[in-house]
Amino acid sequence: MKILVINGPNLNMLGRRDAEHYGTDTLPAIGRALTEKSKSLGCELTFFQSNHEGAIVDFIQGNADEADGILINPAALTHYGYSLHDALLDAGLPVVEVHLSDIKAREKWRQISVIADIAVKQISGLKKQSYILGLEALVEHINSGEKK
Ligand code: DQA
Repeated sequence: MKILVINGPNLNMLGRRDAEHYGTDTLPAIGRALTEKSKSLGCELTFFQSNHEGAIVDFIQGNADEADGILINPAALTHYGYSLHDALLDAGLPVVEVHLSDIKAREKWRQISVIADIAVKQISGLKKQSYILGLEALVEHINSGEKK
């Protein structure tokens, strides 16, 4: 089973961002924790991070055919990324949306996700653990054979 793990703008700066919201783990550290988890879940991860919405759309278009699911932290694109939304929809794969911070407890504009309607699940507010639980939920969903 192949999973695309996608991170949006500014997540390359984790470790230097507001620790109260995002924790202290760097993106490579989160990647290592996911890779460790993937061994017990029996899946293979392909990682991608970009600060550019178009680059993420290109990555999804170029890799969706070989993948079984997408784990994504769209970062600020969560709140306005309509072309990202459409690329995820067109990919036709199950999507789990994750956030380090609890977006529902933050500014009004962060409480809106334009991705949520196409995600099978949204996990928010558990810092690094959001990704781990997100990966588990995605693999479980794929294994269940349920349609997107
Ligand atoms: C985030 C929340 C977004 O509002 C923010 O723009 C991010 C990270 C999170 O993981 O909590 O960059 O997606």
